[in-house]
Amino acid sequence: MQASRYAHITGWGAYVPPRCVTNAELSQLVPTSDAWIRERTGIETRHIADDEDHTSTMAIKAGRKALQTANLDPGRLGLVICATSTPDYLMPNTASLIQDGLGATHAAAFDLNTACSGFVYALSVAASMLRSGAYDSALVIGAESMSRVMDWTDRTTCVLFGDGAGAVVLQASERPGGVLSFRLGSDGSGGDVLTVGMGTRNPITPEGLARGEGPFMKMAGREVYRFATRIVDKVTREVVEDAELEIDDIDLIIPHQANIRILAKAAKQLGIPIERIYSNLDRYGNTSAASVPLALVEAIQEDRIHAGDHVVMVGFGGGLTWGATLVEWTYDPADREWSLWQRGLQGARFGLAGVKSFAHRAERGVRFWEIRMRRRARRRKKAEENGADKAATNGQLKD
Ligand code: UT7
Repeated sequence: MQASRYAHITGWGAYVPPRCVTNAELSQLVPTSDAWIRERTGIETRHIADDEDHTSTMAIKAGRKALQTANLDPGRLGLVICATSTPDYLMPNTASLIQDGLGATHAAAFDLNTACSGFVYALSVAASMLRSGAYDSALVIGAESMSRVMDWTDRTTCVLFGDGAGAVVLQASERPGGVLSFRLGSDGSGGDVLTVGMGTRNPITPEGLARGEGPFMKMAGREVYRFATRIVDKVTREVVEDAELEIDDIDLIIPHQANIRILAKAAKQLGIPIERIYSNLDRYGNTSAASVPLALVEAIQEDRIHAGDHVVMVGFGGGLTWGATLVEWTYDPADREWSLWQRGLQGARFGLAGVKSFAHRAERGVRFWEIRMRRRARRRKKAEENGADKAATNGQLKD
């Protein structure tokens, strides 16, 4: 009989673009105020990607840090899952761009879109694939370029969202712990309360753009708020019960960072002090699928998570979707500090990964060039043969 397998978080990393936008700056763009945004949401600043940063590039930066913390060679990675609702393209999938960028040459890669619940969904899927024995390691990333789907004239949405990426490495082992339980859910009847309507069913047209329609987020904020305040309490209790624990056994809850009032309400419903619910919403705003891993990484860096702790991560958002995972933390973050030479070795691995990717592209380029040349030669030969045939026919006709 196969021994029990567990999926442990062994690495973590985050990246936010450097440009930090204050509420005061936004109040020059739309009729809002620092006071309204702070009081109604808890947000003070958010980071916005410049032209150089995209969902994939931010994810690569976060993913690289996560692999470094885990001290895992990208070439040994089995799986890359990117949770995002703002992919670089409809095709290719963003995870494949990340897989290439990291040099994870043996990894399967796919995107997962359940909006703000995306990271929790992806973590649950990856943990299941590791526990089943199908894979030994996975890089799970939440990455978003929310600023690219904002209507910067709509004050009800543009003040709320930000960009960034967070990532974790999951590794399988027989040591008990890691992801202990998860619950995922969906209620598509609420799909219309939070949308970015662009897609094959609603392509962008010049007429639509002229009518002010575009690839913009629209949200019925009150509706989503009502849903969120109901679901965080419910799904948290479910994963705690599934793991045969009590709410009091939970050391830290890391929820999706949408609104400080949602988090305060959850603390009250769960009967725990607000300090046990982690928040960095004030600095990053709502980064959708990136928010839970961004918060997780900051909580680790602030020494809020230790080996033996029980941590619940909760996501909720567009779909409508929701999910929670309960993790027994097994690695002391202090053990994940690598020496200078180990860092040097890691740098060399990523350098090698870059060279491998370049070599793959070059090889593909040469192959395409060869095929094109062969086709051209074939066409030329055929044309010459046709020409010769025609000349012969013409000669015969003259004769
Ligand atoms: O990530 C996915 C999950 N998303 C969420 O969980 C978001 C959940 N929803 C919320 O967090 C809140 O509903 C919002 C922060 C979006 C809105 O807060 P609210 O307290 O529910 O405000 P509201 O939508 O009921 O609007 C109250 C007033 C309205 O004015 P009137 O109609 O009362 O005159 C809005 O027009 O606030 C006005 N308002 C603003 N005023 C200044 C809306 N946005 C702004 C703004 N600045 N940016």
